[in-house]
Amino acid sequence: MSVLPWHLLPETSSVDADGRLSVGGCDVIDLAHEFGTPLFVYDEQHLRSRCREAVDAFGAHATYASKSFLCRAMARLVHEEGMGIDVATGGELHVALAAGVPADRLVMHGNNKSFEELAQARKVGVNRIVVDSFQELDRLESLYQADGFAPKILLRVTPGVKAETHEYIATGQDDSKFGFTVSTGLAREAVEKALASPAVELMGIHAHIGSQVFRVDSFGAAVEVLGSFAKPFDLPELVVGGGLGVAYVEGEEAPSISQWSGILKKAVADGGISSAIGIEPGRSITAAAALTLYTVGTVKELEGIRTYVAVDGGMSDNPRPVLYGSGYEAFLPRATTADRSRPVRIVGKHCESGDLLVREGKVPTDLAVGDILATPVTGAYGHSMGSNYNKVLRPPVVFCNDGDARLVVRRETYEDLLVTDLG
Ligand code: LLP
Repeated sequence: MSVLPWHLLPETSSVDADGRLSVGGCDVIDLAHEFGTPLFVYDEQHLRSRCREAVDAFGAHATYASKSFLCRAMARLVHEEGMGIDVATGGELHVALAAGVPADRLVMHGNNKSFEELAQARKVGVNRIVVDSFQELDRLESLYQADGFAPKILLRVTPGVKAETHEYIATGQDDSKFGFTVSTGLAREAVEKALASPAVELMGIHAHIGSQVFRVDSFGAAVEVLGSFAKPFDLPELVVGGGLGVAYVEGEEAPSISQWSGILKKAVADGGISSAIGIEPGRSITAAAALTLYTVGTVKELEGIRTYVAVDGGMSDNPRPVLYGSGYEAFLPRATTADRSRPVRIVGKHCESGDLLVREGKVPTDLAVGDILATPVTGAYGHSMGSNYNKVLRPPVVFCNDGDARLVVRRETYEDLLVTDLG
């Protein structure tokens, strides 16, 4: 028997007697018919609960990493729940501001912020700029020469802790493009430079060791290094980043945000750190809040080899399987609790063999062309890393709550594909 593990579904999921799924009180198959597929379905209550967990633990120092999923409705939701928002580019800054989030609830990130991005962040008055390099300090110096304004900053350091995760999303090790390295003395030099500079007000240290990290001792190790590095400078703030892993597939379990917070707080107490601690979760807020709905278009049975099930989306709405070899589950929301005994490979509609969504999927035996198929835990880094490859239209996003489905991002149209094309 292989039934979809319930904990991979959004918080308000429920099924009727036939196993037909509702999320946020909305029948999922009806959503597919109303809005079309592919479709991102978010459980609004789930998003709010995760934000509350983060705020309960770290108050106003809980900041949402918007790169995991950002649109104006999301920015507003996060702000309403009391989290700050981490924006990593001028584009993310623009969307958060367009949502009406006050600039003093935004934190400006990025490993290579341009002069213009820094100027804009200063101009609108973001709460903190997280400085990543000496060149950025120089850019802030020259902006200061012009107007005498010294923004509050954090310095991003790399603590030399290797988080066990995919190489592409590990950021805490010395060999990294991010931040000032602690072990080589660059971080100390950066602190001294910032403290001596009139162009910035140094508020603290920032680190992010990586993403999709399950081993909580990696976070403990990072806090230890950061604590002993930062202590002599006695700075008011220490931000330990995001990175908490989430369960994507059967057999995986991840710590909750509250458990993670508990571990961080213990490491902080053990290290005798007195700075205010901040966190920056992205994936753990958004990933399990959403599922993606597709329509099955073709089923190709290769006797003795495998069965390919092709759906109407693919690597343009979820590039994670191709980029990181990430695993996902699949199921039929018309029969959510059915046994999934049919092994299939679920692929997209893009013109390359690498375009797969679920390499080793399992579905009910009666899956047929026309079925609505769902992949759970697609709320993080799917929509945000989506593309128009093959000029496939980006899917819409609905937020479901109390039986109400709110379209927050509409589906792209063919006309949208020509908006920036000058012909
Ligand atoms: N803070 C900083 C400075 C970060 O760079 C990141 C993620 C976060 C917070 C949030 O990390 P989270 O809690 O979401 O793990 N595209 C990849 C993930 C890249 C993460 C980049 N930085 C993926 O799909 O797995």
